[in-house]
Amino acid sequence: MTSNKRPDTMERITTPQQAEAFIEEQLKELREQIGDKKVLLALSGGVDSSVVAALLIKAVGKQLTCVHVNHGLLRKGEPEQVIKVFGEELGANLIYVDAVDRFLDKLAGVDDPETKRHIIGEEFIKVFAEEAAKLDGIQFLGQGTIYPDILESEAGIKAHHNVGGLPEELNFELVEPVKLLYKDEVRVVGKALGLPDSMVYRQPFPGPGLGVRCVGAITRDRLEAVRESDAILREEFAKAGLAGKVWQYFTVVPDFKSTGITDGKRTYAWPVVIRAINTTDVVEVTVEHLDPALIDRLVQRITTEVKGVNRVLFDYTPKPPATVEWE
Ligand code: XMP
Repeated sequence: MTSNKRPDTMERITTPQQAEAFIEEQLKELREQIGDKKVLLALSGGVDSSVVAALLIKAVGKQLTCVHVNHGLLRKGEPEQVIKVFGEELGANLIYVDAVDRFLDKLAGVDDPETKRHIIGEEFIKVFAEEAAKLDGIQFLGQGTIYPDILESEAGIKAHHNVGGLPEELNFELVEPVKLLYKDEVRVVGKALGLPDSMVYRQPFPGPGLGVRCVGAITRDRLEAVRESDAILREEFAKAGLAGKVWQYFTVVPDFKSTGITDGKRTYAWPVVIRAINTTDVVEVTVEHLDPALIDRLVQRITTEVKGVNRVLFDYTPKPPATVEWE
């Protein structure tokens, strides 16, 4: 096990050359650590787990098994991208678990934000542990732990288990090749490994996914409204050159309705709330002020393309007093 302390002499990885050197060194260390044994990895499609997967595929190929759990709360196109990049292009041993019904059934009628998070976290561990139990001879568990996770965990801010704390009895040894890297370095390494930009420069996305943006008790139709409006927002931000510039942007669909008119008929439908923010540390957050033409386009597209929506609102509240997510 390597140390959890980043050496003072370690240079910040900012160039492709530095990334290549890091990759070479890690491949050597991973091969030494793993030998001919098997590794399991929960692959969410986020930057950190994707980079760990790409490193492990290079280092030990089919000795790695990736498990991608679709809990139904992922953004539009994400499970498909994981399957395409890792299953098809990189030829990984990939187990795709469609757990959508399982999660949404468990969450039905649950409106308390903490309880929702708890259910999502707990169910994720159960699904993952079930998949692990079906496999023989796994000795290692890959994790996308990064250096801020270690620092925050040491400071007592949060536990740094990316997988949410797997049952101890699974008895895995951890493989954490990016644990001494900062997020920006993980991205440089991901780029050097040939991962697509949409994965490498992905904005932060909470573990409970769209679940915390479908405010209150999640219903499938309102969850679709979150997913579809989020996809439109991402598309329009990309067209406007804002993708990669604005730190985080997403839509929220609260569980209340208001009246409206579509094709001369009265509607009673949900609003979509748009939130776009900038920050460096996520402790304090400022709001991105949107161009009026972009606002008009978003209102037009979302109210016509997203089912069950008749109004678009903009959340211009900094943090504090508001948190980034609504739940
Ligand atoms: P808040 O809402 O606490 O969010 O101001 C700060 C940042 O953290 C993200 N976030 C999460 N990330 N698991 C995560 O991995 C979570 O449960 C979670 N909750 C919030 C949020 O998207 C924002 O970037």
